[in-house]
Amino acid sequence: MAQPLTVVIFGASGDLTGRKLIPALFNLAIKKRLPPEARILGVARSEFTDDSFREQIVTKVKDAFKSSGEEWKADEWAEFAKRLHYVSADVTKPGGVAPIQQWFTANEGGENGRRVYYLSISPELYPQVSTALGEAGLSQENGGFRRLVIEKPFGHDLATAKALNEALHKHWRESQLYRIDHYLGKETVQNILVFRFANTLFEPLWNYQYIDHVQITVAETVTVGKRGAYYDGSGVLRDMFQSHLLQVLSLVAMESPARHSADTLRNEKVKVLDSVVIPSFDQACQSVSVGQYAGYRSEPGVPGTTKTPTYAAIKLNIDNARWKNVPFYLRSGKGMKSRYSEVFIQYHCPPHLLFPLPPGETLKCNHMRLVLQPNEGIDLNFQTKVPSVDGVALQPRDLAFNYKDAYATKALPEAYERLLLDAIQGDASLFMRSDEIERAWEIMDPIIQASERAETPQPMEYAVGSQGPDCADKLMAADGRAWNPII
Ligand code: BG6
Repeated sequence: MAQPLTVVIFGASGDLTGRKLIPALFNLAIKKRLPPEARILGVARSEFTDDSFREQIVTKVKDAFKSSGEEWKADEWAEFAKRLHYVSADVTKPGGVAPIQQWFTANEGGENGRRVYYLSISPELYPQVSTALGEAGLSQENGGFRRLVIEKPFGHDLATAKALNEALHKHWRESQLYRIDHYLGKETVQNILVFRFANTLFEPLWNYQYIDHVQITVAETVTVGKRGAYYDGSGVLRDMFQSHLLQVLSLVAMESPARHSADTLRNEKVKVLDSVVIPSFDQACQSVSVGQYAGYRSEPGVPGTTKTPTYAAIKLNIDNARWKNVPFYLRSGKGMKSRYSEVFIQYHCPPHLLFPLPPGETLKCNHMRLVLQPNEGIDLNFQTKVPSVDGVALQPRDLAFNYKDAYATKALPEAYERLLLDAIQGDASLFMRSDEIERAWEIMDPIIQASERAETPQPMEYAVGSQGPDCADKLMAADGRAWNPII
């Protein structure tokens, strides 16, 4: 008989559990990828029985299926719901872990149970809860693994991230820790590595000799909605750049690892983050532009005088042989024209142009777009001859690969499905290591400080549904470049 396997979700009555975690586990069960012996134990302070927990969570899971356009599978749910259990506990109180221990004793029948603990709780509680589990002996691997999955945000700056790593390492080995960045669970983000390292066509051109600059964009249409109070203490530079955008940058810029293993992969990511030039405070002030969407200061929970940015654009340089003098421009914002994420690679122009251009026109030099979401795919844009008997006129055209057309029968899995399965299977490749997180904060800290300094004026306002504030265009224009418009 298989050893017992339990996914324990702390914060089981919270939003993430109903919107992402349980739907992902349910989908894994539908796909027969969740081991049959796996049970899910929800833990929170609210009082539920197993049955009442199942009753209230099903509504949230149905909503999640509806909003992602998935068909509801009532029979499969009825089977899956039998695996859902619940314990009411306040782990932050002395003795608060006891009800969970009692559940393990009653249900695992021994010490060899395999457990994934998932912290889907308020980040301030990470040290307390992970310590309480450790002190109660629940991190000890007595025959079965004990893994701890930690949601972002991981710290508020370098100092708090270091303190959190230290607190975790008191009771947990690094190999037991799975720090989530859900962007790494996205199929198209993982495809960056396949695209670069499983093809010979592109990698020889993937360097300063051929690439002029790189743009990484994560644009969202959503505004902060009900998350105002949380978001205002964070802002876009912490919420998106320190995690998602730097992770995408590291995959675009890293060298090929010798093998596909968690440590070799993460070593290469850390190496490239180590090569990102940490700007001095003055340089940071020059290389960041921030904005706030119109109406942000009237959102519920947001102070009327806040300077927290909902949009930012920054410029980073990578000081290594591959990327010498190739700036990486990163931008992200809420309340923008469309939900659109891409990596845009701008190649150099040909050193000599044979064909005359009409007066006033400049050549649109080659570019490539790795579209991360939506309409996931890859476009390569190059010049073509316009059919004509009369001279040579040039027009750029796309060579396009689109996931939906190429894999019409295969839906892209939700990031959390992949990440939860990896945590269960013990593959930490798509999770962040402590040194990676700390280095990402080291890069972002001066930029965040520059954006928060007292003399900084209010972030530039931009209209909801726009391309973002003008100051971001100026950041590019100062280098003689322009953003690829958000479509
Ligand atoms: C989260 C941020 O990590 O990512 C949110 O906290 C953001 O503010 C979200 O909206 C974006 O994720 P996705 O998958 O919708 O691009």
